[in-house]
Amino acid sequence: MKFQILPDPEALALAAASFICDQAIGRIAQAGRFSIALSGGSTPALAYQQLPGLAQERGLDWSCVQFFWGDERCVPLHHPQSNYRMARESFLDQIPVPTDNLYPMACEDDPGAGAERYEELLRSYFADQPFPGFDLILLGLGEDGHTASLFPDTPILEERVRWVAPVYVPRLASWRISLTLPAINSASVIAFLVSGQQKAESLKRMLEPGSQAANLPAAHIQPQGDLHFFIDRSAGSLLGQSATPSA
Ligand code: 6PG
Repeated sequence: MKFQILPDPEALALAAASFICDQAIGRIAQAGRFSIALSGGSTPALAYQQLPGLAQERGLDWSCVQFFWGDERCVPLHHPQSNYRMARESFLDQIPVPTDNLYPMACEDDPGAGAERYEELLRSYFADQPFPGFDLILLGLGEDGHTASLFPDTPILEERVRWVAPVYVPRLASWRISLTLPAINSASVIAFLVSGQQKAESLKRMLEPGSQAANLPAAHIQPQGDLHFFIDRSAGSLLGQSATPSA
């Protein structure tokens, strides 16, 4: 695990955006393309806003980047709660990326059918792989320990075969679809973006050895590849030295 603890949300946004650009540029140099699964939430939105400028400075070729989503609310794509809409408004509408490179999760009609369609799409993009090998997945952390749309005590947490599944979230009285735990954990790189005092307790429970992490979905993110944390000082305020070995 690698940690960057930043003084405030703006510094976090810049560090995360810089990391995304570096990952993309490095992978494109090696493989000619880069696949990223975007997160919803307010923390990534700030990072996304930094991307157009940084990418231009560094010469990132957006036409080589393929944009997927890690989870989505089952609303129309242009609904104010849509993660797709948030990403479009935060940066995608300002960068030269072909619309063919955007793979929104659409599930407003039927969450189960939407999840199946998205899994099919991923299975054809990541052909012949046991699970999708995203180059980078971005994740947030909820106060209740959820990440993507993997909420505590929901059946999607038990899914070991499907790549994408529907999930009903009683607390929100709404349906979402999400990458499953094995699909997320098969990524080459995962980056958590965690900001704000209200996340401090769940972050501590997730990271500190011996704490009660088992019922926190985010604690089950244990990728085959690298796991990075971008944390602001408020979110990291309850972490001891042992939780952040490489901070
Ligand atoms: C979503 C997310 C979700 C989010 C966390 C943290 O669709 O809402 O994918 O998992 O990342 O709720 O959100 P904030 O950054 O807004 O706190």
